[in-house]
Amino acid sequence: MTLRAIVRGVGHYLPDRVVPNSEFEATLDTTDEWIKTRSGIERRHFAADDEFTSDLGTKAAQAALDMAGLTANDIDAVIVATSTPDMTFPSAATMIQQKLGMERGFAYDVQAVCAGFVYALANANGMILSGQANRVLVIGAETFSRILDMTDRGTCVLFGDGAGALILEGQDTDDDRGILGVDLNSDGRYRDMLYVDGGMTSGQTGFIKMQGNALFRQAVEKLASTADTALIKAGKSHDDVDWIVPHQANIRIIQGTAKKLGVSMDKVVVTVQDHGNTSAASIPLALSVGVARGQIKRGDLLVTEAIGGGLAWGAVVLRW
Ligand code: UT7
Repeated sequence: MTLRAIVRGVGHYLPDRVVPNSEFEATLDTTDEWIKTRSGIERRHFAADDEFTSDLGTKAAQAALDMAGLTANDIDAVIVATSTPDMTFPSAATMIQQKLGMERGFAYDVQAVCAGFVYALANANGMILSGQANRVLVIGAETFSRILDMTDRGTCVLFGDGAGALILEGQDTDDDRGILGVDLNSDGRYRDMLYVDGGMTSGQTGFIKMQGNALFRQAVEKLASTADTALIKAGKSHDDVDWIVPHQANIRIIQGTAKKLGVSMDKVVVTVQDHGNTSAASIPLALSVGVARGQIKRGDLLVTEAIGGGLAWGAVVLRW
């Protein structure tokens, strides 16, 4: 028997307001056609004025708890991947802990931008395998609409808001369900490729700045390489993969990575057309939508991979 972090539940939440590409045509020198062709995005959700990352995360978490048949007080730890917490501190995770009515355990945020959910999964896995926690609620939640410069057509058309959540539970198992392989990387020399010009240095929240094309060129190679490494660590091959569940930044990056891995697009969960890039929320959103669509089923072998600001990138291989 081997102790593994096994998925108990998944859920997601998207704010009500849907923003189609056409909305940007009114104020920017852009077109629905350009956005669709260059990124695959057709629409995204934006949070309401009084809706913050912890609100989105709480709703996604509640959906995952409902699916698992658990309550918040059955959870030992909450890890939230976000770059857009409601406040500088306390963490979005402790806010979600309170909003869920959870009066035990511990909660903290992980900040690895678009790779945040992969980092958070790795963290949760470590917590479970080391005996620090047995049930971990792992959430990716973002309100990137608040850090978009609505006059910068190179970024504001790409991002959206949303949240997804996964419950991992430590179980002694004699099959190979659960998290099987993890690979994390970062390289701070690339910091200028994607950053927010805010924080303590400016005293303002700031806006996203991105060298999209340069990042695009890094993305496919690094994503395929980290997915490969995670598969090797898991003792699996490309042929074993049932689903790639990629970070949803750009359909062309998703296609390029799948091609490099030799995995057909029929085995890739794609939500970028409906959600845009929701940073750390994109993978748990895609996992939850993939389950709701009937794509991801118990026993399937999944590879998740993501890259973002830092640069930080990584992959997790798990059997659902
Ligand atoms: O989640 C974190 C990771 N993020 C990413 O991985 C994003 C990676 N990058 C990308 O997804 C793509 O690079 C973009 C979608 C951001 C851009 O696509 P691209 O094919 O790399 O275009 P580009 O940046 O090379 O720009 C091509 C042209 C430029 O015009 P010129 O200089 O050729 O005249 C841009 O100014 O497209 C122009 N452009 C636009 N045109 C219409 C840039 N944004 C827009 C726009 N509408 N919204």
